[in-house]
Amino acid sequence: MVDGIYIHIPFCLNKCNYCDFLSFKSDKESGKKYVDYLLKEIELYPSYRYSTIYFGGGTPSLLDCEDIERILKKLDIEIGAEITLEVNPKTVDYEKLLQLKKIGINRLSIGIQSFDKKYLKMLGRLHSSEEGAETYYSARKAGFENISLDLMFSLPEQNLKEVENDLKRLLDMKPEHFSIYSLIWEEGTVFFEKLKKGLLKETENEIEADMFEKIIDTAEEAGYIHYEISNFSLPQKEAVHNTKYWENKEYLGIGLGASGYIDDMRYKNQVKFLEYYDSIESRIKPVAEKENISLKEKVEYKYILGFRLLKKGVIPEGEYIEKCISLEKRGYLIKKGEHFVLSRKGLMVANDVLDEFI
Ligand SMILES: C[S@@+](CC[C@H](N)C(=O)[O-])C[C@H]1O[C@@H](n2cnc3c(N)ncnc32)[C@H](O)[C@@H]1O
Ligand code: SF4
Repeated sequence: MVDGIYIHIPFCLNKCNYCDFLSFKSDKESGKKYVDYLLKEIELYPSYRYSTIYFGGGTPSLLDCEDIERILKKLDIEIGAEITLEVNPKTVDYEKLLQLKKIGINRLSIGIQSFDKKYLKMLGRLHSSEEGAETYYSARKAGFENISLDLMFSLPEQNLKEVENDLKRLLDMKPEHFSIYSLIWEEGTVFFEKLKKGLLKETENEIEADMFEKIIDTAEEAGYIHYEISNFSLPQKEAVHNTKYWENKEYLGIGLGASGYIDDMRYKNQVKFLEYYDSIESRIKPVAEKENISLKEKVEYKYILGFRLLKKGVIPEGEYIEKCISLEKRGYLIKKGEHFVLSRKGLMVANDVLDEFI
């Protein structure tokens, strides 16, 4: 049963130096036109009833509230649904946050990345560290009771102390949830070009592992639950929508380049505006790639996604029981009742452990 929807908003004020997400600089008019097409795209699918709605990007907070409201009004939304919007601090003020609250957004995910001005500049972020914090406090004042913050670590030349300082600043703010991502050097980004030219350097694996361990210990001491590899929350404040991905549940994805998973099929939308708009104009779903998921792949997904959930893990079946027992003997998994979860040792080499299930 599909009860989650991801809505991609492919616009940003500016392209950050490390980011390869599908997004472009935009003006107000392109945002309005884009939403007109999103509404038409929604009509191409059955009218599901949603318990989670996630506006991701790009920068959804760049859209006018009226346009976000037009989308919400088009959807059948369950009472008490989690409705998340990703926010870039440079795009909102108190008034806009109040409006967002009023139209029904009840969870924000704010891109902070760092509180250190040296790194904010290096990353190509347009906001200061103070503006990042101000956005959070304005959101609280506007009545948001469920806020997630994004932080990055393992940045070029960053040391353990700087990571600790960033995390401490974040923990002092007491968000309900935070995500912390180790920098990925994505091809086609400014960072990647600088890496190739030797102008920037990757963090050594050992240092990155030390940073990650320090992050986990510090967050847990502060009362946060490390419930997914990159995600921490206060009790009962896990991201409901994202948890559907890790639980291998089906969801609708709409918008340019959005991915979705419906009726045993994973799909990805057109990534060029012209093709995306043309397809919707002809009342054809703007899907560029689709892949039927076989039973075998479904089972594999159960393990590679399920082990990301560090508290819940997976109950293995059939041939996978032996594999889990063997990984447990080698110290990569821990058995908790019927469930197997990643151990700390397994977590530090999670990709290798997950590869065992493909
Ligand atoms: C769509 S953005 C969040 C909202 C908004 N666009 C912003 O940046 O403020 C999603 C998050 O992915 C993370 N991210 C993007 N590119 C990354 C990369 N190359 N390596 C690690 N994390 C990355 C950042 O933490 C970012 O906040
Ligand atoms: S990190 Fe966010 S604001 Fe920066 S380019 Fe990526 S999507 Fe846009």
